[in-house]
Amino acid sequence: MRIAVLNGPSLNLLGSREPAIYGTVTLADIERRLAEVADELGVAVDCAQHNGEGELIDAVHEWRGRADGALVNAGAYTHTSLALRDALTAVAVPFVEVHLSNIFAREPERRVSMLAPAARAVVCGFGATGYEWALRGLVGSLGGVARG
Ligand code: DQA
Repeated sequence: MRIAVLNGPSLNLLGSREPAIYGTVTLADIERRLAEVADELGVAVDCAQHNGEGELIDAVHEWRGRADGALVNAGAYTHTSLALRDALTAVAVPFVEVHLSNIFAREPERRVSMLAPAARAVVCGFGATGYEWALRGLVGSLGGVARG
């Protein structure tokens, strides 16, 4: 089973970006941990990060025939990008929307997700660990092994 992991704008700055909100774990740390969990679950993960909306859409299009599921943290595009939701719907790869912060406990403009209606599930508010829970849940829901 192949799982794509896609992170959006400014998530490359995790570790130093607003640590009071997003913590001090870097994106490289998150990707390393996901690789460990993927090994445990017997799946492959392929991680990418892009700052541009078009690059994110191109990355989603690349999943056709290559990914069985995906984790998506689209950053601020979560709240604005109908185009990204259209791309996710078009490729029909089941995905879990992930956020480090609890977007529903933040400013009103962050409480709306354009992507959630197309998502299999949403994990938010657990910080960096949320990616791991999302991977376990996604793999379990796709019929793979989900332990822990
Ligand atoms: C975020 C929440 C978004 O509102 C924000 O724009 C981000 C990060 C999160 O992981 O908590 O870039 O997606």
